[in-house]
Amino acid sequence: MADMKTITAEEFKQHNSKDSLWVLLHGKVYDVTKFLDEHPGGDEVILAEKGTDATEAFEDVGHSDEARALLPDMQIGVFSGDMKAGASAAATEAMAAGHHVNKPPQTSVISYLLPLAFLGAYLAYRFYLSQQ
Ligand code: HEM
Repeated sequence: MADMKTITAEEFKQHNSKDSLWVLLHGKVYDVTKFLDEHPGGDEVILAEKGTDATEAFEDVGHSDEARALLPDMQIGVFSGDMKAGASAAATEAMAAGHHVNKPPQTSVISYLLPLAFLGAYLAYRFYLSQQ
């Protein structure tokens, strides 16, 4: 494992069929093409994760230590890319295009002018009382 290949998102996404299927788990890339037919969970669940980060799906199943022991033999490289786990392609594209998906809340002028107005009214009232 000394010189693991670095795999880009573009390269990773090209291996997205039964003829050649790569899976991304915990930042590592696995060639599962030959394993597909042997997978106890069936080939379809793995194919459903093609071209995306399968870490969450893999962990949600609660794979056994035996399942994890199969991984090192299938590893072909480490993933180097900006594909975020769980982030939808649309959200990632929107961010890349410079659009903020989550806008910061806007502080309106009224939110600090209103307390100031109340303070002013109170002080004026106190002044008025002191003059009686
Ligand atoms: C790529 C590496 C993977 C390996 C080596 C692997 C291996 C295994 C193994 C050995 C089992 C039998 C139960 C166990 O020992 O935990 C299993 C079950 C299962 N796997 Fe995977 N798996 C992989 C990826 C995935 C992915 C990406 C999914 C996506 C959801 C998935 C879904 C399932 C499901 C649903 C079962 C349960 C099958 C059942 O209980 O009927 N696996 N897997």
